Amino acid sequence: MLPFRHSPHRDAQVFGEGAHAPRQTRYLLRSQIDEHVTDGAALADLEVMVSELVTNAFLHAGGPCELRILHHAGVPVAVEIVDTGGGLDQITACLRYGARRSAPEAIDSESLDLGGRGLAIVAWLSGGRCGVHTTRLSTTGQPGESVWFAIAHATDVG
Ligand SMILES: Nc1ncnc2c1ncn2[C@@H]1O[C@H](COP(=O)(O)OP(=O)(O)OP(=O)(O)O)[C@@H](O)[C@H]1O
Ligand SMILES: [Mg+2]
Repeated sequence: MLPFRHSPHRDAQVFGEGAHAPRQTRYLLRSQIDEHVTDGAALADLEVMVSELVTNAFLHAGGPCELRILHHAGVPVAVEIVDTGGGLDQITACLRYGARRSAPEAIDSESLDLGGRGLAIVAWLSGGRCGVHTTRLSTTGQPGESVWFAIAHATDVG
């Protein structure tokens, strides 16, 4: 049995819980965009970003969580992770902070146990093309938040 299932919503997929969720979500992402994103480094950056957001969804939100890939004219243009965890203001502040950095700051060994870096990495890797907004889960209809980032270097394969 697959560890995740397709939701009734065409573009939303629910993935498994816990330690394997980042791996499963990276797989889902790759399987849907690797035709369009042929640059390996760009694909790896997208995988890092989605891993950070899925980890946040499970650590800070709990509850159900979805991956959505938004398309424009057949080309994937953005990735969203949707959950019910709240935290809109905090997430906004962290993404803005990261987008203002010209490069990720070095991490010294003493700060390795401090969090608050994942969203900054998403903001930096996406070149600030990221955000958070309220929405509803496509699968359950519950109110939630979408944290999203743009897909760079995607091309039309049709
Ligand atoms: N999906 C979410 N739901 C609710 N709050 C969130 C969510 N994602 C992030 N947050 C809030 O934003 C903060 C910053 O998130 P960020 O990913 O930058 O750091 P972190 O998860 O605390 O640590 P790490 O550096 O290991 O990622 C979190 O500590 C949490 O308070
Ligand atoms: Mg985090």
